[in-house]
Amino acid sequence: MGKPKVVLGVSGGIAAYKACELLRRLTESGHDVRVVPTAASLNFVGEATWAALSGNPASTEVWETVHEVPHVRIGQSADLVVVAPATADLLAKAAHGLADDLLTNTLLTARCPVVFAPAMHTEMWEHPATQENVATLRRRGALVIEPAVGRLTGKDTGKGRLPDPEEIFEVCRQVLRRGVAAPDLAGRHVVISAGGTREPLDPVRFLGNRSSGKQGYALARTAVARGARVTLIAANTALADPAGVDVVRVGTAVQLREAVLKAAPDADVVVMAAAVADFRPAEYAGGKIKKKDGEDPAPVALVRNPDVLAEISADRAREGQVVVGFAAETDDVLDNGRAKLRRKGCDLLVVNEVGEARTFGSEENEAIILSSDGSEIPVPYGPKEALAEAIWDQVTQRYTPRRA
Ligand code: CTP
Repeated sequence: MGKPKVVLGVSGGIAAYKACELLRRLTESGHDVRVVPTAASLNFVGEATWAALSGNPASTEVWETVHEVPHVRIGQSADLVVVAPATADLLAKAAHGLADDLLTNTLLTARCPVVFAPAMHTEMWEHPATQENVATLRRRGALVIEPAVGRLTGKDTGKGRLPDPEEIFEVCRQVLRRGVAAPDLAGRHVVISAGGTREPLDPVRFLGNRSSGKQGYALARTAVARGARVTLIAANTALADPAGVDVVRVGTAVQLREAVLKAAPDADVVVMAAAVADFRPAEYAGGKIKKKDGEDPAPVALVRNPDVLAEISADRAREGQVVVGFAAETDDVLDNGRAKLRRKGCDLLVVNEVGEARTFGSEENEAIILSSDGSEIPVPYGPKEALAEAIWDQVTQRYTPRRA
């Protein structure tokens, strides 16, 4: 089998320079990349850069090498087309089927998955014209990644930044792995909690846990690649923000609860992948707790934290909402998992066995997905992404019909 063929479309925004890094990641990971820049984008990055980095010619117009019929052939033979950055103008052309250069022709002839990574000023992104074009492209099955929030060209900050190239690369990798499967979470809003809460004792100490957040982030990345709008509530993680994801940072269980309850009313799916502390210190010492010579340490009194999963399961914010919990068990994994599924009242419970050397911080995981309808689906040891995909497969089977 040859290398997967990727077309990297580049339209005329300053973020075009970031596409060089995306190209490098694609080529270094074994993809055959053909760059198709728009004429405007060549003001930012020249043709020579694309040709040198990709090892392929980079043409803009349909009038070059006409005998090879590039305006049809490049799109037809691609396994993935990714446009990064996608300007407001390019999105408008794509939504309306215009074909006045090689990139827009390629978009019309491509039958593979198409990913757009828009980048523009906030006003342009929020303009109803752009939003309608994005909605049109999504309705037709394209994946349009939400821009990141942050510094824009000039002094502005806001939504409209191109996500980091390595995170756009992650989306491409996921989409290529899925092949031509339709983005089956399109139009859905999923809320995912990830990481581990920290319950402060004093200004420098906390009670915490060993959760890295990797499983929750894998859920967020795979959900983006399946077309979802994703809100990721991240408790004390040290991982890069995934492309297209709205990340809300929290510290304690109480803060996590607030963030989940705020996001849940609009969510089709809530996945509680975070390790939420069951207890917190009854008292927070405003100053650092000092040791005193000759005195035993004072015991730490704890109080219960709210159980967020049980609360959102009992009090569904929306009819048909699917709620997924996780259970980390060290003994009697299945029995404990089945009892926990009943106790928490969620639709799915992902049970895994944990221990010092298992699961925490690792890239792999193994689990059984228990369902309230009695099914028990084992997911063999493998990447956390594979478990994430298996969870989404189960979630999509439990949907009520899609919202209009
Ligand atoms: N969870 C939660 N709020 C808490 C504790 C846990 O929402 N205060 C969620 C976790 O995000 C996870 C699930 O509940 O999805 C299971 O958490 P776990 O701590 O394993 O379950 P517990 O009910 O605390 O059971 P036990 O500690 O007795 O194993």
